[in-house]
This record gives sequence, structure tokens and C-alpha cells, in this order.
Amino acid sequence: MKIAVVGVGYVGLVASACFAKLRHEVIGVDSDESKIKKLSRNIMPIYEPGLEELVKDGKKHGRLRFTADLSEAVKRSDVIFICVNTPPKRNGGADLSSIERVCAAVAGAMTSYKLIVGKSTVPVKTGEWVRKTIKKFCKPGIEFDVASNPEFLREGTAIQDFLKPDRIVIGVDSEKAKKILLELYKDLEVPKVITDVNTSEMIKHAANSFLAMKISYINALANICEKAGADVNRIAEGMGYDKRIMRSFLNAGPGYGGFCFPKDVLAFIHIAGELGYDFHLLKSVDKINREQKRHVFDIVKKQLKGLKGKKLGVLGIAFKPNTDDIRFSPAVEIIEMFKKAGASVSAFDPEAMENAKETLKGVKLCRDKYSVCKGADALVILTDWEEFKAIDLKRVEKLLKHPVIIDARNLFDPEKMKARGFIYKSIGRS
Ligand code: UGA
Repeated sequence: MKIAVVGVGYVGLVASACFAKLRHEVIGVDSDESKIKKLSRNIMPIYEPGLEELVKDGKKHGRLRFTADLSEAVKRSDVIFICVNTPPKRNGGADLSSIERVCAAVAGAMTSYKLIVGKSTVPVKTGEWVRKTIKKFCKPGIEFDVASNPEFLREGTAIQDFLKPDRIVIGVDSEKAKKILLELYKDLEVPKVITDVNTSEMIKHAANSFLAMKISYINALANICEKAGADVNRIAEGMGYDKRIMRSFLNAGPGYGGFCFPKDVLAFIHIAGELGYDFHLLKSVDKINREQKRHVFDIVKKQLKGLKGKKLGVLGIAFKPNTDDIRFSPAVEIIEMFKKAGASVSAFDPEAMENAKETLKGVKLCRDKYSVCKGADALVILTDWEEFKAIDLKRVEKLLKHPVIIDARNLFDPEKMKARGFIYKSIGRS
């Protein structure tokens, strides 16, 4: 099948490479010419395990190419996936201006039937609005369908999530669109949930917000655990064996971050409000998440009896491991709080250093995990990279000024850390 993927950001680039892997002919389109040039030289604009190999493989087999020429890509394709960003607006709603621009350009280039599919996370009813926009800008008499096919991939495991998903959600309003999308995914033998477009759009918001709710729930429990002298990890384990609950997304920490959960929760609250429902449950999820970052900051401040003039070593800048993405990263927010409180900060992240250079002004960016420890009053762990779990604690102890570790990701066993002579504070464990 011939596919155009418009917007080769996270979702679009992974989708392009994976559709090529599924033996479709794919053209990835982006208005950012420098990105297209880089991709033509096999330079990935993002860090994602396995992506470079997959892009190279798609190109080698002649099934994948990239262009900035949207019109040509539309003419050569039967299905057009819209994967452009939907950043948050000031009022929490999603900014759909990129989608509008793309729809107008796609419509202007259409000379025969096309299936236009929304893959970006969008407010319910966006499909209806896309249909109206395409109709307004396309030549009279040209037929088209609009569908929704939300993407559930996670950064860091994106390829695996795309090629072996838990389910595929297809929102269609015509038999023709349904047939095309089922054909497109015929090699993936997973449950396929077929709905109308509005329901499909809402499934994506519902899933992301539910996962965010799990995280805020466990973080709220962690706060109670700290007061009661209980262990939140064991509670998550005890709850997680219940198949109705499950263990995943019950890791207490500094709160959820990234370009999806924070903005999607706010967008869902906003849409619900516009539709006449006050989503107070999600408002609490968001509030708990914001407070959690302050909570981590307060633990460090209390432990060091104030932060003015203190030297902090920080491990982790990305919003989670296996990515270089620092957008809405709890680590970035907490580091900013440390700086504001008068501490000097040295930080290290295995992949996010390049992105951190632009964002974290006034922070000393170190070349490895041990350099941040040198002479620090405390070591603060903010992202759960595997390589931090394997850190040589003897070396750390020698390098630190005081043997204090505040671990916002619960990487170590408190008893063992105490036995090693560390003053060790984590989240939700006394
Ligand atoms: C999330 C969803 O998991 C994907 O299904 C979805 O497709 C994607 O958003 C999207 O909408 O595009 P992602 O943002 O890559 O994926 O990251 P997650 O793995 O979900 O983690 C989000 C945040 O929650 C991270 O900051 C992570 O550290 C935090 N988290 C996660 C916790 O604090 N505790 C947990 O138990 C799990």
C-alpha cells in the first residue's frame, strides 16, 4: 500500500519506518528541510533504540524515503497519516493549528480518492473538523474519507510497541476506510478495536489519562506511606498481583512528564469542560503530579537543612530512561527549583546532554555519572536509567562530600543503603 506520513516527529518517524517494515511503500513528509536532509544521510533527529537500523533497512529495500514536498507525497499515496504535533495552548486545550495547515495543503494537492488518517493525539470531534477543512480546500467532486488510528507507542520502546501492540484502534465512518486500514495492518495479529471516529479519538485520551491517574494514585499513596512508615513498592506489588489492577505504572517517583501525559491530561480536562463535564478526578491527578515535584525538592531541602550554597549532583535529566527527550521532564523542573533555592547543580544523563545544553542554563553538565558526585553535598537521582542502578556505590561514597543520596526513582534497597553507611531517602519508603 502507498502511504504518506505527514510530520516525522516521534510518532511519524517511527510509524514511517515501521510501515516500511510491514512492506508498505512509505513517504515521510516534513516541512523542516534540515530534518529531511539529516534523514537522507541517516542521521536520526531523535534517540530511539532500533530506529536508525529500521530506517536504513526501509531505504535499502526502496520502501522508505523522505521529502519536504507534501504535494508530491499526497499525489503518490493512497493513505495519508497526519502525525504533526498538537502542543498545549495556554488554556490547556490542544493547539490544532499544525493539523489545520496540513489538512489545507493535503486537500489542495488531492486529485483522486484519499484516506486521511489522524494519528496525533487530538480532542474528540477533531475528525469531524478535519473532514470539513478538507472539503473546504479540495477540488469539487474528489472523494475522501477521514479516519482515526491513535498511536500508543512509548518513547524508548517505540518500535516494539508499534510492531507488537496490545491492540490497534481504528475509527472509521465508512466500509471503504475500514477495509483499507484492516489491509494496512493485516500482518499484525493483535486485537483490532473498530469504532466510529469520535470514539477512537477518545480512546487515546482515556488510555493516557488512566495511566497518568495510576501514577498519581501511587504517588499519593507514597506520601501517606512516608507518614505511616509503610513501603510503597511493596504496596504496588501487593496490589499488582490483582489482575484487575496490574503492577505496571505503579512506580512512585517525581511525577509523570514528557510531551504526552502532562499535556494530554490537561487537554482531556479542557475538552470535558467544553462538553459540559467538570472532570475533577483528572484535575486532582494533575494537581498531585505538580505537587510531587515540589515534594522531591522538599525532601532534598529538608535533608540538607536548606539549599543556599549547597552543591548537588544530579543523575538523570530525561523525563524517563532510553530517551533523550527532556520536554516537561520532572528532572528539569526539579533542577530549576534547586537553582532558584541557591544550590549549584552538576548533572549527567546518558542521552539527554545535547538537549540539556540549551535548556539547563547555569547547570554544570558532566561527562559521566561519577563526575557529578565529586564534592557534592548530596546525590539526587531523578531518572531511572539502568546504568544508574549499576553505579559503583563505593566510588560514589568516596566522591561525595557527605554520604547522602536522595533517590526519587526508588532504585536501591533502603536497608542495604543504610548498611553501607549512606543516608538514603527515597519515595514512599521509610
Ligand atoms: C505515553 C504512553 O505510555 C503511550 O502509550 C502513548 O502512546 C504516549 O504517551 C503518547 O501519547 O504518545 P511516553 O510519554 O513515551 O508514553 O512515556 P511513559 O512510558 O508512559 O511514561 C510517562 C511518564 O510517566 C514518565 O515521566 C515516566 O517516568 C512516568 N512514570 C511511568 C512513572 O512515574 N511511574 C510509572 O510507573 C510509569
